[in-house]
This record gives sequence, structure tokens and C-alpha cells, in this order.
Amino acid sequence: MKGFGVLQSFSGAGYNFMIQLTVPSIEEDDLEAVRKVLTSRFLVQGSHVAAFERSVADYLGSEYAIAVSNGTAALHLSLNALDVRPGDMVLVTAYSWISTANVIELCGAQPVFIDVCTDTFNMDPAQLKIVLGRLMTNKEIAQRVKAILPVHTFGQLADMTEIMKLAKHYQLPVIEDAACALGATLNGRYAGTWAAMGCFSFHPRKIITTGEGGVITTNDCDLALKLRALRNHGLDSDKSSPDFVMPGYNYRMTEFQAALGITQMSKLDRIIEARRSLAVHYCELLDESTVNAPFVAPGSQPVYQSYPVLLPEESSAFRTEIIARLKAQGIESTIGTWHMPMTTYFRTRYSYKIGDFPAAEWVFQHSLTLPLYDGLKKSEQSIVVQQLVAILEEMGIRA
Ligand SMILES: Cc1ncc(COP(=O)(O)O)c(C=O)c1O
Repeated sequence: MKGFGVLQSFSGAGYNFMIQLTVPSIEEDDLEAVRKVLTSRFLVQGSHVAAFERSVADYLGSEYAIAVSNGTAALHLSLNALDVRPGDMVLVTAYSWISTANVIELCGAQPVFIDVCTDTFNMDPAQLKIVLGRLMTNKEIAQRVKAILPVHTFGQLADMTEIMKLAKHYQLPVIEDAACALGATLNGRYAGTWAAMGCFSFHPRKIITTGEGGVITTNDCDLALKLRALRNHGLDSDKSSPDFVMPGYNYRMTEFQAALGITQMSKLDRIIEARRSLAVHYCELLDESTVNAPFVAPGSQPVYQSYPVLLPEESSAFRTEIIARLKAQGIESTIGTWHMPMTTYFRTRYSYKIGDFPAAEWVFQHSLTLPLYDGLKKSEQSIVVQQLVAILEEMGIRA
């Protein structure tokens, strides 16, 4: 591999990059916490899950937190808790990781995609208003519309003020996909505390990790009880003797994941601070270039789960080649996330075509995620930006 002798090469677990996209923040106390549980012999349904739930709920100021096996399970259970059934419709952002739309389909319901804002990549409230206006004036269709599912894309909150106004007007519940946004705020209010339920992920690319893992936050006692039953085979945990009151899943989190979650929560603020500081540095480095740093909306404090830049117009057709050339220099990068309506399943099922969601399409084509994690060095960020600019120039693109 060509490159920067001063940097350590990461060659484990299929990686061969000197600068990885992300590295989870796992330290000695995390290892010790997991080891302790593994040697205790109580691997599931002990006290660690409850303690992890309390720690997330307290951090966010939520009444309840329900730990589950991953972020997709959190979304799936939330839709189940709202009784989303075959034939129903859920309004969802067009640009996200595919599970945001998959879970709707897995309930037998139809995702109604809403285009995004080209600056924040989040659900566009103006588009939401137009689509709601169209659907809710038809009585039959209005009965099928069950929820709104915005995503806090890459760790920046969607415009929840406007989305909640529309939801209130049409009396629709909202589920926040806050998978990437633990600790992010809008006007001082945390992601996952604006709506009926907030869904978080603890996948290793997220702000903190439990390997796989997720949490649902809510202030609604009935929803919390239902979510707890649904994640555990339909068992009503409030009854004095065990009873199964609904068909449920096994979406439980293990004790050792929860133990890791507890130590990870203790470093959440430090991780967020580091990510924000690195984001500011990237912004300075990119300032003179034609590559656009992520836009931050007024009142928004993102956590930068990812750092997606927007490439100059003429380079979008060459993005795969740019990613390959960065890889050849030992730098891992990737696309932003997915234009979900144009993935094979959704495109063929609902006959979407190019141009149906112009903003999501544009963002999908132009975004490039650069390495960002709390242990990334500023010198490594400089190399990332220098190499990206050099590659664009080599390709004849004004950088
Ligand atoms: C926006 C979004 N929603 C949902 C998920 C699903 O989370 P998990 O991978 O924990 O199932 C992810 C994870 O990548 C995500 O980014």
C-alpha cells in the first residue's frame, strides 16, 4: 500500500486501511464490564439491561427506555406498538438506511416516501405537508395513514418543530428514527424525545456501541408496557404470574451487551465532544475547496455519526472511482446512505422512476462519507482532505 509511513495500518477483521471510516471507542473498562458478565453466568435477563435502560432514559430525560437487539428491531416494534397492519401507510423519509423502510413493509404496510432537503438530507416538511394534504383529504386513504417516520440523518435532527406541527394537525403519531442521533439536539431538545417513540441503534458505526443493539424511548406508560411484551414473546412483565398476552418476538438485548452499553454511556459526552471538534476541523480544511462540508441547521447540534460531504457537481459521476482511489491511498470512504425508493425492491414494487424524488436522488449521487470517529487525529483529517482534493484535481475536476 502506498502512503503515509507515520500512520499505523489497521489490517484486522477484513480492514486494510490506514485511516478507517470509523473505529468504535472500546477501552479497558468496556472489556472488563463484558468479561465480568460473561464470567457471572447470567448472560440474559438480569440486572444490566434494566440499568442500561435507566442510564439512556436518564440521559435523555425520557420516562422509559426499552432495550432491544438492534435499531431495526426498535423500529419494527414501534410500528407494531402502534398496530401498523397490512394495508396501512406510513410516511417516511426517502433517504435513509434501508431498514427504515423495510420495517414498514415487514408490517405489511406501505411506505409513502417523502423527499428530503438537499442541505440537511432530512425529511422536507414542505413535501410532507403536500403529501399529507393529498392523502388526508380522501377519507378512505386517510384511515390507512398510521404514522410519520422521520430520520435524524447522520446524527442531525430533522425539522421536528414543523413535523410535529403537521402530525398534531392530522392527529398522527410520530416515530423518530434516531438510530444515528444519540445526544443530538434541536433547540436544546434531544433526539428521541420529541415524538411518541424514539428508536436508537448501537451498531459499531453509531455514537456508542453494544455490538448490535437498540433502544426505544417513550414517555407513554402503555406503549412502554406493550413494547416490553412485544420484545419478549408477548410476556406481560407486569403480571404477578407469567402470562403471554400477545404474539411477540425475541428482540431482547443480552446482559453483556447491556454491560457494554453502561460503560459506553459513561463516555458519551466525551465522544460527542470529540466528534464535534473533528467536524469543525474538517470544515476548516474544506473551506477553500469545492467540496461542501455538512450543513448545520439553525438551533441544531448534530453528533456527526457520519461526516458526509457533498462533491462538486461534475464529480458525482465518478464517485465510485473517487472511493477506489482514496482506498488505494489507505483511506476508507463510502457513499452517504440510500435513495430507498430507487433500490430494486421498492422501485419495482411501487413503480418509482428517476425524478420522482429529485432531492434524495441528488443527495444520493453527490454525498461521500469521510472518516470520523473520536480517536481520529487532526493530522489524519488533513491527509484525508489533501488526498481527496488531489484526486479531484488529477481527474480534472476543479477542487
Ligand atoms: C437511520 C438508520 N435507521 C435504522 C438503522 C438500523 O439499526 P441497526 O443496524 O442497529 O439495526 C440504522 C443503522 O444503520 C440507521 O442508520
